[in-house]
Amino acid sequence: MSTETTNAALFERAQAVIPGGVNSPVRAFRAVGGTPRFIRRAQGAYMVDAEGQRYIDYIGSWGPMILGHGHPAVLDAVQQAATEGFSFGAPTEREVELVEAIIEQVPSVEQLRLVSSGTEAAMSAIRLARGATGRSLLIKFEGCYHGHADALLVKAGSGLATFGHPTSAGVPAEVVQHTMVLEYNNVEQLEEAFALQGADIACVMVEPIAGNMNFVRASVPFMTRLRELCTQHGALLVFDEVMSGFRVALGSAQSLYAELIPGFRPDMSVFGKVIGGGMPLAAFGASRAVMQHLAPLGPVYQAGTLSGNPVATACGLATLREIAKPGFFEALGAKTKRLVDGLVAVGRETGVPLVGDCEGGMFGFFFAEALPQNYKAVMAGGSERFNRFFHAMLDRGVYLAPAMYEAGFVSAAHSDADIAATLEAARAALRAA
Ligand SMILES: Cc1ncc(COP(=O)(O)O)c(C=O)c1O
Repeated sequence: MSTETTNAALFERAQAVIPGGVNSPVRAFRAVGGTPRFIRRAQGAYMVDAEGQRYIDYIGSWGPMILGHGHPAVLDAVQQAATEGFSFGAPTEREVELVEAIIEQVPSVEQLRLVSSGTEAAMSAIRLARGATGRSLLIKFEGCYHGHADALLVKAGSGLATFGHPTSAGVPAEVVQHTMVLEYNNVEQLEEAFALQGADIACVMVEPIAGNMNFVRASVPFMTRLRELCTQHGALLVFDEVMSGFRVALGSAQSLYAELIPGFRPDMSVFGKVIGGGMPLAAFGASRAVMQHLAPLGPVYQAGTLSGNPVATACGLATLREIAKPGFFEALGAKTKRLVDGLVAVGRETGVPLVGDCEGGMFGFFFAEALPQNYKAVMAGGSERFNRFFHAMLDRGVYLAPAMYEAGFVSAAHSDADIAATLEAARAALRAA
C-alpha cells in the first residue's frame, strides 16, 4: 500500500509506468494544465481526491453516473451479482432483461447486441451497416466522437471529393479512405455528399446532441434532411447515443427528434455510459432485418469474452430501473436547467459573455456571444478563459470537465444546495478571472 498522499506524487509515480500517467488522455489535464486529481472515492454528487479534497462532480465518469455515485439500489444489485459470479461466458437471464429494458424505451430498436465499450459498439455498428448494405462509405461529422476505431480517427480532406486524413499516427491513410467527414449542421454539404456518392454510402453516423464538442444540437432542418437523404439513397442513419442515450431523456435523443420531426427514427443506435451505470457496458441495435446480418445469424462477425457481463448488466439494469421512475427526467432536467440558467446569469452579472444549453442531465456552456453550431465555431475562442475558469472552479471545489470541448453532466444526487454552491463559485471565479 502506498504512503503517498498528494496528487502530484501519485501523478509522478503514474507517469513512470502508464503513458502520460493516465489510462485515457483527457484525464491528464493537458488542455487546462496542472495536476490531475487522483480520485480516492466518490459518493452521491461528490468525489474526494487523494489529498482529501472534496469536489462537486460535473463529469460523472463522463456520463454514466446519472444517479450519482454509490446509489444504494445499484450498489445492492452489483454486490448481489458479484456474489453470484463475475463472468460466465454463457448467456444469462439478466442480459435479456437489460436488453428488454433498453428496447422498451427506444422503439427504433428491435434487437440489441451488448458489448463492453462505446468504441466497440460504434465500430461494430459500422461493420454491421457495411455488411447489411454491401457498401463501404461512412459519413461522420467534424467534432463528433465515436470512439477510437481506426476508420473513425479521421478529419476532413480539402474537399468533398478528397479522402479524409487520419488524426492519429498508426492509422494508415488507406484505412480512412472510406470515411467522409462533413461539417455538423451543414445541410448544403450533406446534399452535395449524397449527390456525389449517394449509392456508395453505407451509413451516416451522428451524435444527435454532440457532447464531444461541448454541447451542440443537430438542428431540426439538418436532422430532417439527413433522414430524408439516407432513406432516399438507402444509407443507414446511425445515431451514436453513447453519451446522449438515457441521459438527455428516457427515450434518448431520438425521442426528442421524434417529437419535432413527424415519424422520425434512426435506423441504428449505439448506446453506452448510462446503460452500464458506470460499469464497462455498451450496445448497438437496430431493426430485426438489420440485426439478422450479425453472427451467429448472418455473415457480419462480432464477439466478446466479457460481453453482457453479469455484474455490468446488474449495474445497468438497476440504473435503468431508477431513471424510468415517474418524474425522474423532469426533475433532473429542471435541475440542470437551473444550473445553466444560473451560469448564464452569473456571466451577465460579471460582464463575461457566456451562453449555455442543456437537455436532461447533460449541459454545455461557452464563453461566447451565441451558441456554436459546429466544431469550428466551438473551437473559435475562449480556451484561455475556460482554462482559468476551470482551475478557479476546481480550487473552489467544483470539478468541471478539464477541456472546453467536453459536455458536463448533472446527476440525481446533485442537490439544490450543490447547484447554489456551484453558482456562487462561478460568480467568484468569473470576478477573479
Ligand atoms: C458519443 C460517443 N461515442 C462513443 C464513445 C466511445 O465510448 P468508450 O469511451 O466507452 O469507448 C464516446 C465516449 O466518450 C462517446 O461520447
